[in-house]
Amino acid sequence: MYAHVIKSAKPKVPKLPLFATGGFRTVPAMEKAVASGELDGVGLARTAASEFDFPNKVIAHQIQSAMWSPFEDDMSLGVPAAAAQIAQAGRTRLEETEFDANYGIANFTNEEIRAAFLNAKKVRDAEIEELKKEGKLIGGVVQM
Ligand SMILES: Cc1cc2nc3c(=O)[nH]c(=O)nc-3n(C[C@H](O)[C@H](O)[C@H](O)COP(=O)(O)O)c2cc1C
Repeated sequence: MYAHVIKSAKPKVPKLPLFATGGFRTVPAMEKAVASGELDGVGLARTAASEFDFPNKVIAHQIQSAMWSPFEDDMSLGVPAAAAQIAQAGRTRLEETEFDANYGIANFTNEEIRAAFLNAKKVRDAEIEELKKEGKLIGGVVQM
């Protein structure tokens, strides 16, 4: 269904650069979408949060696919997991990481790290419930 939406979009806005985000994991799929003219570019959300240098690796022809994500089919876990990774990346200045863009980012393919995230999410979910009861704004992300 999503592919059908992409196919039908360009003719409606032929003069606008058209990007789509959602489910792009392999370089051949990204290249096909752009080479076919259906899209002018692709957006990457969870993939880029798991590997901050993923777009650079694609452009440099160093990689063909995103790493496997255990949360791929569950946005209710995948989005907060990616938000936790983005928060982790923001804790360290790039020059302090010897320019390793992925420094300090959780690798959820590791079972222990995945369990730590799921525990931290439970804590966070409980906090959210409290905030809701108090009628307060909900800010922030799962902290790991
Ligand atoms: C951390 C995070 C925050 C997001 N925030 C928004 C948002 O505010 N509004 C929105 O429409 N989509 C949001 N999304 C959805 C993404 O834009 C994207 O459509 C979705 O993750 C599917 O793309 P992907 O398969 O590359 O992850 C968010 C996704 C992530 C991972």
